[in-house]
Amino acid sequence: MGESNETSKALQAICYQRGSLRLLDQRKLPLESVYLNIQDSKDGWNAIRDMVVRGAPAIAIAAALSLAVEIHSLEFKGAPADAADFIVKKLEFLVSSRPTAVNLSDAAMKLGDLVRKTSETTTEVKTVFKVFVEAAEAMLENDVADNKAIGSHGAIFLRKKSEGLDKLCVLTHCNTGSLATAGYGTALGVIRALHAGGYLDKAFCTETRPFNQGSRLTAYELVHDKIPATLVTDSAVAALMKSGSVNAVVVGADRIAANGDTANKIGTYSHALCAKHHGVQFYVAAPLTSIDLSISSGQKIVIEERSPKELLNSEGGLGKQVAASGIAVWNPAFDVTPASLITAIITEKGVITKSGDDVFDIKNFVESTRG
Ligand code: MRU
Repeated sequence: MGESNETSKALQAICYQRGSLRLLDQRKLPLESVYLNIQDSKDGWNAIRDMVVRGAPAIAIAAALSLAVEIHSLEFKGAPADAADFIVKKLEFLVSSRPTAVNLSDAAMKLGDLVRKTSETTTEVKTVFKVFVEAAEAMLENDVADNKAIGSHGAIFLRKKSEGLDKLCVLTHCNTGSLATAGYGTALGVIRALHAGGYLDKAFCTETRPFNQGSRLTAYELVHDKIPATLVTDSAVAALMKSGSVNAVVVGADRIAANGDTANKIGTYSHALCAKHHGVQFYVAAPLTSIDLSISSGQKIVIEERSPKELLNSEGGLGKQVAASGIAVWNPAFDVTPASLITAIITEKGVITKSGDDVFDIKNFVESTRG
């Protein structure tokens, strides 16, 4: 992995041209914009595991593109079926980098199916590789359009649900913006769309301990876009809601179970409980690729536990020691917010609302929107 320094204030996490992939090293933001050259799936795996790139959609796209650059000029000896096996094994390896976000395993499954099917209908290895590369590139292209659709559906829905208010104050957690996706963002996309329409009073972003995706990345995006915003600590959220300053919460998702239970950055569950207590609407904004219909509830979601260093040292583990030596640490990266605390789920195909008995019928929504 080589690196290059950019002087411009970058909001593009993934820079790709066929045969070349550079990832913005998000660990260095907001002070430095450094891009790392990713040459193969091993580089991709390390970049995802080490949080160079993070955010559910971005890690799926970065993983697929890291393999696309690896096979771009690969002299592969074997039959098309061997080429498909090669790709599937690399995809399985990439999925092992981070377990919670379903977007990565969903992409691996779809891309794996595609190359297997292609290998059955061609005699050329290069056709198998070409199909994979084009499908990985399409993920990058489609993500921005999906996010803009999420933003637009979300802004319309939030305004409808907030009758009587000309402008809204919206709280978000972690980073779900351009840096967590191919561009624009999901929950932050909703905030961007509200702002663009003149319907945002201000955004609140949480610090998002321990890795500080909120204070380093979301705050950076909000300042970059000149969106009025205030940073709060995660632990200030209850007091903030009690003061009546928040009209709605919008967060992203790493995995949404069939019943609507949602895994997202650690702390999301606390914010949802606070929102319920204070009568504040709580929304999840995510693409359909974040929905995992194979699991009935959030109990089955595997929650990634990260290194104690992220708590013991400053700068999400990269800086100096800030906690007492010898203390035990529990550092889950995500938590699960039960569907009962979620008002609605905003997707690129529209908003999933609850039926009269307070349950989501996500399967029906997904099936009815399939093109
Ligand atoms: O650990 P991270 O930074 O990858 O966690 C990211 C989140 O929890 C996001 O809210 C989620 O992935 C959605 S990103 C559009």
